[in-house]
Amino acid sequence: MSLKPAPRKPEITRREFVRASAGAAIASPFALGAWPMSASAFVAGSDRLRVGLVGCGGRGTGAADNALNADAGVIITALADAFSDRIDSCLKNLRDKHSDRILVDADHQFVGFDSYQRLIDSGVDVVLLATPIVFRPEHLRACVEAGKHVFCEKSMAVDGPGVRSILESAAIARAKGLSLVSGFCWRYSDPEQALMREIHDGRLGAIRSMHTLYNTSGWVGYPKREANWSDMEYQLRCWHYFKELSGDHIVEQACHSIDKIAWAMNGELPTECIATGSRVVRTMGNVFDNFNVAYKYASGARAFHVCRQIENTPYDNTDYIMGEKGYCFMNSWGRNPADHHIGGDNPWHYPEDGKRRNMYQTEHEVLFDSIRNGKKHNDGTWMAHSTLMSIMGRMAAYTGQVVTWDQALNSQEVYTPGTWAWTDREPLPVAVPGRTKLI
Ligand SMILES: NC(=O)c1ccc[n+]([C@@H]2O[C@H](COP(=O)([O-])OP(=O)(O)OC[C@H]3O[C@@H](n4cnc5c(N)ncnc54)[C@H](O)[C@@H]3O)[C@@H](O)[C@H]2O)c1
Repeated sequence: MSLKPAPRKPEITRREFVRASAGAAIASPFALGAWPMSASAFVAGSDRLRVGLVGCGGRGTGAADNALNADAGVIITALADAFSDRIDSCLKNLRDKHSDRILVDADHQFVGFDSYQRLIDSGVDVVLLATPIVFRPEHLRACVEAGKHVFCEKSMAVDGPGVRSILESAAIARAKGLSLVSGFCWRYSDPEQALMREIHDGRLGAIRSMHTLYNTSGWVGYPKREANWSDMEYQLRCWHYFKELSGDHIVEQACHSIDKIAWAMNGELPTECIATGSRVVRTMGNVFDNFNVAYKYASGARAFHVCRQIENTPYDNTDYIMGEKGYCFMNSWGRNPADHHIGGDNPWHYPEDGKRRNMYQTEHEVLFDSIRNGKKHNDGTWMAHSTLMSIMGRMAAYTGQVVTWDQALNSQEVYTPGTWAWTDREPLPVAVPGRTKLI
């Protein structure tokens, strides 16, 4: 793919941006000039929780909304994004719903690669991390080192070094008593929780085999490249399609179903995996459009995962688990959670009138309850392990080799460029099994 060079883009604050656009109409009563003091001064000494969002796209805006709905004392005081237009759309969206609790003046709208650090330094209590995945290790570490509670969207890293960093940050958060809630949202979903409790309580007996699917038809949209965009800007605006930013769709999206394998196995880790994968119809970026992974466990159990992002093919998010005493079926995208059931010696199904609260909302209820009531919630270790399982599957598919857990965890393959800047940046080559090296 040819990526045209473009001029370097300076890092700017929103204040500078607003000054540069003198005369621009400001619709919100909380925008520049209408808010007489800084948001942090406003909340000093109160029981308010000042929340900052890093990554103001679709999920980040949703997470901020969830945080506001979870706790009446939450106010949003700072936003950070690589691009000012994403802050604009996020602010509009949040102000439309929660006008009196979005106290983000122009000095608290941070733009650029260092925006996360300026947001952390702005006096927030809680940080919501929802950027493309490659940034998660660096951002999480900065948050916990600064003593912030964190909601951390999945997935957690794109490479082995990133996962090791997440494990270290989780330990720092634990030592400091900080709350750390992950965005592996099915862990916060009532029917899935009930089913996993039954499995852990032994209704299936020992697990022998699992099969999880994450097949989607639609692709994530991406904008047409504009003439003044650097490679970096283009890639970030289409980040799902660049493995160095997203980890590929097995890490970015299908990780949910790989996490279900890890959850069912109650934290037991696979020893190795083999995988196939390819890029059959996708022409954008450098990612694959399908993966098939077989994980092996020390007990002899096997787990098989299939994921696909190919247009005009059916959606499927079903999971099958076979145990010594029976089988389990789960369809998390199904209309009726009562379809979740266990057959065999000890039959069970989720009740027709069982709860099915919004799992995205529940994540934030758990987060703010733990902060308010000192419950010390920390998802750090398992969220890192589920991420590594996904990365391990990708490594096996890209290389065509058997990949052990230890090889994935100790991998020296680094996807981050070292320094983030608005410069030219050739994408990594598309992997070719049998030729791409295991690093
Ligand atoms: N749990 C779920 O079901 C679920 C659903 C969707 C997305 N997600 C996850 O949420 C995260 C965000 O996904 P999305 O769909 O909102 O993507 P998105 O592209 O809509 O939003 C990402 C935002 O991050 C910004 N950004 C990029 N680099 C940045 C940087 N260095 N610093 C600050 N901001 C930066 C982008 O400009 C963009 O506004 C991803 O990790 C994704 O996997 C989770």
